[in-house]
Amino acid sequence: MPVPVIIDCDPGHDDVFAIWLAAGNPDIDIRAITTVSGNGYLEHTTYNARVALTVAGVTGIPVAAGADGPLERKATPATWIHGENALGGPELPEPTVPLDGRSALQLIADVLAEADEPVTLVPIGPLTNIALFLREKPELVGKIKEIVWMGGSTGRGNVGAYPEFNAWCDPEAADLVLRSGLPITMVGLNISHQALITAEVIDRIGAIGNRTGAFGVELLRYFCSTYDKVEGMPEGPLHDPITVALLIDRAVATVRRAHVDVETKGEFTSGATCVDLHDMLGKEPNVDVAITLDVDRFWNLVVDAVRELA
Ligand code: BDR
Ligand code: CA
Repeated sequence: MPVPVIIDCDPGHDDVFAIWLAAGNPDIDIRAITTVSGNGYLEHTTYNARVALTVAGVTGIPVAAGADGPLERKATPATWIHGENALGGPELPEPTVPLDGRSALQLIADVLAEADEPVTLVPIGPLTNIALFLREKPELVGKIKEIVWMGGSTGRGNVGAYPEFNAWCDPEAADLVLRSGLPITMVGLNISHQALITAEVIDRIGAIGNRTGAFGVELLRYFCSTYDKVEGMPEGPLHDPITVALLIDRAVATVRRAHVDVETKGEFTSGATCVDLHDMLGKEPNVDVAITLDVDRFWNLVVDAVRELA
């Protein structure tokens, strides 16, 4: 049975690949896509989610817009990496995939209520929508099987010495979700920086020869060029699809169970995830922290999925 998922995203170059991996792999059943402000303002991330599906020729998945900013802070689009429209590089086609009239929270609620089995949430942006859902729809929380989140880090950050972008955008939301008691896997920078977009990866995706692959190559080239400029990483890290890859095949990554707190107040560290890998605090572990990526297995899944799309 394919794993039923809701992808909550802020596309974003790597978000697009996460959507494609889920759409192109038979072991995943995308029940809904919800959008949040993160890499770009909500209008851009919502448009881009519809573009991702349109390019890939995927229809029948409802897309609904969620929060247009963090719980308590201002939106901070990552233009330095993703460009002004959050999807710099290729010319974007007018999406033919419609926008669902429901709010993201209502769509998530409807999908959970209608599902026969618990559904997995895959947030790959700031956790604003998920935090709002837990707060406003507690009666449906039992229908969430688990949360597999891209965000945080066991070590270095990408918007400061320690904070990672998704956690840093909305630390209050991340704090609420991580303290929810739900089963949570954290795919942080410590593992996503193992998913490097090498020239060989770009060649493999281009060689597929379909529309999705060609669009994908343009996305990856732009993403690597900004990573090179900003972080000195010409082979940028394709963070978000690792979440979906883990749901397809748990052997894609090793995980360690640990207690994770989110810093909401720190003068220099706001948004940092404090991952107690060595149990120094003696607190109850609340997160499965992804540690080591099987790089070949990961890229094979991504390439195989893109091959299945338009
Ligand atoms: C995360 O932030 C965004 O730029 C990416 O889409 C990813 O979700 C990496 O820090
Ligand atoms: Ca993202």
